[in-house]
Amino acid sequence: MAKEFDVVVIGAGPGGYIAAIRAAQLGKSVACIEKWKNPAGELKLGGTCLNVGCIPSKALLASSEAFEDASHHLDDHGISVSDVKIDIAKMHARKDAIVNKMTKGIEFLFRKNKITWLKGHGKFTGKTDAGYQIDVAGDGGTESVIARNVIIATGSKARHLPFAKVDNRIVADNEGALAFDSVPKKLAVIGAGVIGLELGSVWRRLGAEVTVLEALPSFLGAADQGLAKEAAKQFAKQGLKIHLGVQISEVSATDSGVTISYADKDGHAQKLEADRLIVSVGRVPNTDDLGLDAIGLTVNERGFIDVDDHCRTKLPGVYAIGDVVRGPMLAHKAEDEGVLVAEVIDGQKPHIDYNCIPWVIYTEPEIAWVGKTEEQLKAEGRQIKTGQFPFMANGRALGINRADGFVKMIADANTDELLGVHIISANASDLIAEAVVAMEFKAASEDIGRICHPHPSLSEVMREAALAVDKRALNM
Ligand code: FAD
Ligand code: NAI
Repeated sequence: MAKEFDVVVIGAGPGGYIAAIRAAQLGKSVACIEKWKNPAGELKLGGTCLNVGCIPSKALLASSEAFEDASHHLDDHGISVSDVKIDIAKMHARKDAIVNKMTKGIEFLFRKNKITWLKGHGKFTGKTDAGYQIDVAGDGGTESVIARNVIIATGSKARHLPFAKVDNRIVADNEGALAFDSVPKKLAVIGAGVIGLELGSVWRRLGAEVTVLEALPSFLGAADQGLAKEAAKQFAKQGLKIHLGVQISEVSATDSGVTISYADKDGHAQKLEADRLIVSVGRVPNTDDLGLDAIGLTVNERGFIDVDDHCRTKLPGVYAIGDVVRGPMLAHKAEDEGVLVAEVIDGQKPHIDYNCIPWVIYTEPEIAWVGKTEEQLKAEGRQIKTGQFPFMANGRALGINRADGFVKMIADANTDELLGVHIISANASDLIAEAVVAMEFKAASEDIGRICHPHPSLSEVMREAALAVDKRALNM
């Protein structure tokens, strides 16, 4: 007889595994279906984020930053080093060890919370009075389970271009780009989005000459354009070449390299030759081969599952979260939706304010924001006031040799409520958390300006930017 569960989660990425844990905490019987295998053929929990996304990319960003510091910036401190070398295999081994520690951590959490890990590919086969029927096809055969509630958390995969076949050696998506076995002399990147900038930065710091080709005429269109302009300036200084407004017509790869043919922003035909290419042009939801038709669920024209504000699909007891539904494709957004759905199933009334989900791009400097950009607010006709403060005037930033960038705060011109906070600086990923708390509590810029911040710390720039909204920054 098929095993029955209160909740079956399909997918154990940050959305799915967190949903499973929260549902188990709330006393439900929970199973989570996951099929991910690493290159060694081992089954792994954690999804894109832990295996080929957030965690390995941040490990490589840290290694490459240490290499760049040792190669170029330690001299500023009076420290001389010579003959700085990077052992790429060792760098990857460190990254793999971090990934392994994290994925093993989820296995531990599953055991601790008595969550059953069903190993294999999950697919709906129908519905009975007892619940939804799901087949799990694993190495040892197919098992059927019945779920009173199902959470679809199947995530996303890299979008590929029809004319650029990905082999993850010469032409790579995120998976290959996180595992290049040597530093390419010349690296091309298609797409100046988050992955292109982060992984482009990794290989540039390690010595590659990196050229990024972007279709859109503007840089980082989703970010506040004040930040985008500063980022473009910093990246150009670092030697990252970014060509905007291009139209790529052909990618031809051989065993040893790749040629990309494109029209530049003025329509002139160009060819870019490189040893390797990263294709980072966005991600598509994993909704194929899920058996959705067996339960009467369809996907929208972009392949996403439609849900309401509580991640409910049109079918009772079927929810979808994370990259497979609308909203930003971010791990913390998926996690929050996982908690929300588990609590909805438990009869609680949780809520997510999607305006308060922060964005971070882990380049150097980091770029982080929450709320709306100046351009969005002006387009909405909002009366706003802004305050900006540079890290150049902050003692801690000078001390750690990271004085580039600024904080920009935007508040309502009449009520002073914070509407957006935009940071480009070292550790912006940590600094933004204060702004998220402030916005969740509907704080005014004056609230941040009146709060005591530790000295000397980068966080003082948050306070100064808040004071600058009222034209009363103290150190400028
Ligand atoms: P996923 O993490 O994609 O997990 C889905 C899981 O479902 C997978 O393990 C898959 O194997 C499994 N699955 C799918 N179909 C089935 C099925 N039928 N049966 C069984 N299992 C199935 N986000 C951030 O917030 N910060 C970052 O720094 C960041 N860095 C990133 C770097 C890179 C290179 C990439 C590619 C992404 C990054 N992201 C980052 C995005 C983040 O990884 C995703 O938003 C997040 O993983 C989405 O979580 P999820 O649970 O929805 O899906
Ligand atoms: P993206 O959506 O961030 O950027 C893709 C870029 O490719 C866009 O600028 C787009 O205009 C461009 N593009 C699309 N088609 C093109 C073409 N034919 N030629 C040239 N340019 C083209 O997508 P990306 O970088 O692949 O990342 C996917 C998602 O993963 C991100 O949107 C983000 O949600 C998530 N992610 C988050 C990270 C973080 O939070 N730090 C890090 C990495 C990924």
